[in-house]
Amino acid sequence: MNSYLEFSRIGKSFGTDDGVFEALTDVSLAVDQGEFVSLIGHSGCGKSTLLNIVAGLEPATTGGAILEGREIREPGPERAVVFQNHALMPWLSCYDNVALAVKAVFGGRRDKADMHDWVMHNLELVEMAHAAQRMPHEVSGGMKQRVGIARCLAMEPKVVLMDEPFGALDALTRAKLQDSLMAIQARLEATVIMITHDVDEAVLLSDRIVMLTNGPSATIGDVVHVDLPRPRSRLELAEDPAFNHCRRRVLDFLYAARVPEPAAGGAPWRDDVGPREAADADGAGREAAAPGDAPRHSGRDRAA
Ligand SMILES: Nc1ncnc2c1ncn2[C@@H]1O[C@H](COP(=O)(O)OP(=O)(O)OP(=O)(O)O)[C@@H](O)[C@H]1O
Ligand SMILES: [Mg+2]
Repeated sequence: MNSYLEFSRIGKSFGTDDGVFEALTDVSLAVDQGEFVSLIGHSGCGKSTLLNIVAGLEPATTGGAILEGREIREPGPERAVVFQNHALMPWLSCYDNVALAVKAVFGGRRDKADMHDWVMHNLELVEMAHAAQRMPHEVSGGMKQRVGIARCLAMEPKVVLMDEPFGALDALTRAKLQDSLMAIQARLEATVIMITHDVDEAVLLSDRIVMLTNGPSATIGDVVHVDLPRPRSRLELAEDPAFNHCRRRVLDFLYAARVPEPAAGGAPWRDDVGPREAADADGAGREAAAPGDAPRHSGRDRAA
């Protein structure tokens, strides 16, 4: 059966000074149209690499990504990307960064005034309308990230690819944009692949949370289905047992991946945890680190 978006046995190796480095191996996943999938895993496991392959920015070494039956070989306007490092064109104002994308997608179909209103609407959505004429070097990292999100949403893409889109934002802005993203995704029926390090964010937004094992040779270790009805309210879900069950499963996976294990024929295991993960653990790990934890995932079971 053909799925809308398919990761078909994706493997990716990089040539390095020390030889070939296998970042990803055998990553397979079938994504439905309109589905919201989060990718979660420790720093350096290969999340951005995987997203870049789906974006058409990097070729897979083996296998590939297939959208509507066609292999992805290059970037396309139906797939908008929000990058981890808020990649704006430095020579264009915040307004022009969004306008360029809007013209590329809607030019010839919408008139100038309409496109202007649409650019401003999307900048308002991320609370950047007041800084529309500023250059990227004149705004903060979080503001650049918000322009990147506005640019992505303004394209009304079929597939939204987001690499830690809310990582650099304060808690209130983050919550507001998460809610906007859920509303926009529902309206457009867009398919979203989002990388995040934030477990609560993953559970709140996703239909499925795909967890990657540690690299090298990272692959899918487990998948959590989030069967919570939409629209979702973060306040109501805070006490919801199903929400907390999903959250707990993801935390268990991440904590298990921190424990060094003998590599008995499986992927080599690493115990290096980046600062963000340590920060996440401080906030959420007390519960997960308690004695008598639920059985830990080995991280090796394929669940694609
Ligand atoms: N061009 C490259 N050449 C060599 N190695 C690379 C290259 N790009 C990525 N890697 C390596 O591949 C692995 C996966 O990198 P990637 O950026 O995908 O990780 P990530 O999961 O996105 O990490 P983070 O959460 O820190 O953003 C890392 O070990 C990284 O060093
Ligand atoms: Mg990354």
